[in-house]
Amino acid sequence: ARPILIAPSILSADFARLGEEVRAIDAAGADFIHVDVMDGHFVPNISFGAAVMQAVRKETQKPFDVHLMIAPVDPYVAAFAKAGADLITVHAEAGPHLHRTLQTIRAEGKKAGAAINPATPVSALEHVIDDIDLLLIMSVNPGFGGQKFIPQTFEKLRQARHLIGGRPILLEVDGGVTAENAGDIITAGANVLVAGSSVYAGNDARTYAGRIAAIRTA
Ligand code: DX5
Ligand code: ZN
Repeated sequence: ARPILIAPSILSADFARLGEEVRAIDAAGADFIHVDVMDGHFVPNISFGAAVMQAVRKETQKPFDVHLMIAPVDPYVAAFAKAGADLITVHAEAGPHLHRTLQTIRAEGKKAGAAINPATPVSALEHVIDDIDLLLIMSVNPGFGGQKFIPQTFEKLRQARHLIGGRPILLEVDGGVTAENAGDIITAGANVLVAGSSVYAGNDARTYAGRIAAIRTA
């Protein structure tokens, strides 16, 4: 079995205590720190930008998995690379030149991810499959934490796992992941599970380790 990585999303953290919230999920066993960047244009919500991310980068050594829900994206790739991103994921729907954007990320020395929204077929990534380190299947329409997992995602995960074949590409799922559906998500082929509200709900650090463990062992 492939190792399962849990990536709590700091979108559901208490922003007033963001540094502390990042340290807490590190201590609780997070594998990646998932950073949701929203621009109020590509998605109907605004979260935070590179300066906020850079401010909390020193709180942990864990990889920063940066999910850019912004358009245009190319002008900001370098800023997130410099702010301490390890993986930078961009949306296939965010611009006309996905291949160029992925090359820009790799030219910055970072791992490149490509994401697709619920309405976008897996085949949209067929011709960039050798240009990515991570493939992200959105299981909600991006923009907000706490939404319900869309069941058609299971079929898309199976298709994405088939497309990946023997390549060392991470298959990530994002949106509505809980300890209840994590088992089926992993069976469908995902090996990186983003979890926002199912880890951070209530913002009580004493609950994080148990919640991360519950998703991991599902
Ligand atoms: C959705 C974001 C997700 C989201 C996950 O727009 O990309 O990362 O915060 O949150 P939950 O796990 O609460 O669905
Ligand atoms: Zn995300």
